[in-house]
Amino acid sequence: MKIVKIGIVGCGGIFKYAHLPAYKQMKNVKIVAICDIVEEKMDDSDFPVGVKKYKDWKDLLNDPEVDAVDICAPNYLHSIVGVEALKKGIHVFTEKPDAISVAEMQRLMDAEKESRKVYMAMRNNRHLNISKFYKKYIEEGKAGELYCGRCGIIRRRGIPGKGGWFTTKAQSGGGPLVDLGVHMIDLAIYFMGNPKAVAVSGCTYNKFANSDLSDSVNSKFGEKKDDGVFDVEDLAMGFIRFENGACLQIEFSWASNIEKETAFLELRGEKSGIKFSYTPEENRIYTEECGQLVNIEPKIVEPDGGHGQNLVHFIDVIQGNAKPDFTSEQGMNQIKILQAIYESAKLGKEIIL
Ligand SMILES: NC(=O)c1ccc[n+]([C@@H]2O[C@H](COP(=O)([O-])OP(=O)(O)OC[C@H]3O[C@@H](n4cnc5c(N)ncnc54)[C@H](O)[C@@H]3O)[C@@H](O)[C@H]2O)c1
Repeated sequence: MKIVKIGIVGCGGIFKYAHLPAYKQMKNVKIVAICDIVEEKMDDSDFPVGVKKYKDWKDLLNDPEVDAVDICAPNYLHSIVGVEALKKGIHVFTEKPDAISVAEMQRLMDAEKESRKVYMAMRNNRHLNISKFYKKYIEEGKAGELYCGRCGIIRRRGIPGKGGWFTTKAQSGGGPLVDLGVHMIDLAIYFMGNPKAVAVSGCTYNKFANSDLSDSVNSKFGEKKDDGVFDVEDLAMGFIRFENGACLQIEFSWASNIEKETAFLELRGEKSGIKFSYTPEENRIYTEECGQLVNIEPKIVEPDGGHGQNLVHFIDVIQGNAKPDFTSEQGMNQIKILQAIYESAKLGKEIIL
C-alpha cells in the first residue's frame, strides 16, 4: 500500500478539529508538511512529530515529498493555492467553497484538466451515512421525481470570526450564503440528480454588523478582529429554478431574529418527501403505503460530520480505488448560482444563467 504524503495549508479550526483527527485514523496517509502564515498556529502538541513547517505555501508546494495538498486556509486562497499545486502535479483537496468567483473556478478547472491530477472540494454532507442512505433511496426510484425543495441553515446569532476574513468579502467571497449555503445547496442538488440551474433570484441583508452576541457553537470558527471589516451579508434568501422544471427555495443566516438555530433540507418527490437533518432522530421520509400515510424514521449513526469520510474518499480516488463522487463541473454550477444570487440581490431582478 502506497502512503499518500500530504501537505496542509492553513492550520486553523477546521484542520485541527475535523481534518487532523481523520488523517490520524488513516493508515495510508502521512502529513509530511504544514503551513500557516501565523507561526504559532503550527505549534500544537496534536500535530505530527517531525512534520516540516512552512510560513509560505509556495515553499510547501516546492517540497518534493508532497503528493497532495489539503487547503484549509481562507476561501480566497482555495483557487490560488489549488491552481499552483495542480500546475506542479500535486493532487488538490480544498475546503469549501471551491472558489470565490466563477473566473477563479474556471482557472481551477483549466488547471485540473491540464494536470490530470485529482481535484476535489469538501462536500462533507454528501459523506454522512444518512446522505448515502437517502441518495440510494432516491436512485432506486423510491421518492419518484423530486420536483421541488427548500433548504437553509439559519442562525439567531452566530457570526464566525467577526471582522476577520470570514466577514471580509475579498477574502471570503460572501457571508452565510457562501459559508453555509455551499453545504445545503450542494446536498439538495446532489439528491435531485444534479439538474442544471437556469435562473436565480435573491435578496441579501446586512443588519447585524454591530452585534457581538452569539448563541451558536458554530460561530467558533475564524478569529475575531475588533477593528476589522464586515462587508458581507448576514442573511441571504433566494430561489433557484432548474432546467427540468424543479425549484429550490433557500435561506442562510449568521444572524436574524428567529427562535433558534436550525438547519433543514426538505425535498418533495412524487412518491415520497425527504427530510434531512443534522439531528439523527429528526430525519424522516414521508410517503404512502397500502393506502395509508406513513412516516419512515431512518435509524442511522454518524461517526462524524462527514469530513473524515470525504477525506478517505479523496485518498481512495488518488489511489485508484474509487471513482470520484464529485466533479469540478458541479463545483462550477454551484459557484455560478452563488454569484447570481448576489447579482440578483444587487440588481433587484431574476438572473438567467
Ligand atoms: N466543511 C466545513 O464544515 C467547514 C467548517 C469550517 C470551516 N470550513 C472552511 O475551512 C477553511 C478554513 O476555515 P477555519 O474555520 O479553519 O478558519 P481559521 O481562520 O480558523 O483558519 C484559517 C487558517 O489559515 C491561516 N492562513 C491565512 N492565510 C494564510 C496563508 N496565506 N498561508 C497559510 N495559511 C494562512 C490562518 O492563519 C489560519 O490559521 C475555510 O475555507 C472555511 O470555509 C469548512
